[in-house]
Amino acid sequence: MLTQSGQGLADLGVLGTGKMGPRLAAMFARAGRKVILASRDPDRAQAIVDELDIPGLRAGSYADALCTPAILPAIFIRDGLFDLLDRSCRKLTGKLLVDISNPYNADYSDFVTPWDSSGAEELQRRFPQAKVVGAFKNVFWEVFDHPEFGETLSDVLITGNNETAKARFLELADGTPFRYLDAGPLINSRTVERLTMITGNLGRQLNSYPRMNWRLLTQPHPEAMGAVS
Ligand SMILES: NC(=O)c1ccc[n+]([C@@H]2O[C@H](COP(=O)([O-])OP(=O)(O)OC[C@H]3O[C@@H](n4cnc5c(N)ncnc54)[C@H](OP(=O)(O)O)[C@@H]3O)[C@@H](O)[C@H]2O)c1
Repeated sequence: MLTQSGQGLADLGVLGTGKMGPRLAAMFARAGRKVILASRDPDRAQAIVDELDIPGLRAGSYADALCTPAILPAIFIRDGLFDLLDRSCRKLTGKLLVDISNPYNADYSDFVTPWDSSGAEELQRRFPQAKVVGAFKNVFWEVFDHPEFGETLSDVLITGNNETAKARFLELADGTPFRYLDAGPLINSRTVERLTMITGNLGRQLNSYPRMNWRLLTQPHPEAMGAVS
């Protein structure tokens, strides 16, 4: 259940003020959610929030953001995301944990997770008290500044093992400029995360990097429409 406008706690806490955090915080706030943008240095978050000047968006510390019912860490796993959450693990109980991680190593040549796992699965394994939903992994930061590709919205693939958590995520994301597709359980994050590596390489080949995202092209199929029995 989202908070009523102007009342109560925030709906979402975003941790980190790098490329992704402020853009995601701004996007959710523009869609009408109450969002805390949090930083290790709350003054840095405050300066960003002042500049963005979006109703419903306020600045805070990581501790503030971890008090919200939905938490979105915009922090690399290689930079210590797991340890950071470990220190506040009791605050994660029952929370929606929106995982945007692509678990790149420092030189972006590979992932720090093994092939038979993913950032999202590792997060869920380490924090079973939270409900992890993977999202935004294929969306490069610049896309949030201009999300429409012509008339077309691009796709965000969401993964998760808990249907209620996925529904809560979709409620939070209502009104944001993407089409959300259910990409199945968390195990599918292995594919989604590694797709980001390929997208980055293709974008550079096509002189589009970082302005690219996926859209699954489809046409109604006669059998699916019930025209053929
Ligand atoms: N960049 C993309 O296009 C993109 C796309 C999809 C997914 N992602 C994922 O989004 C997450 C964040 O990516 P990003 O590009 O926003 O990263 P970034 O620009 O490096 O920002 C990460 C933020 O993490 C916080 N942080 C906390 N502890 C840190 C530490 N020990 N060292 C460095 N930073 C620390 C910092 O914010 P404070 O100083 O404010 O605390 C920092 O600004 C990653 O998991 C990445 O895989 C990124």
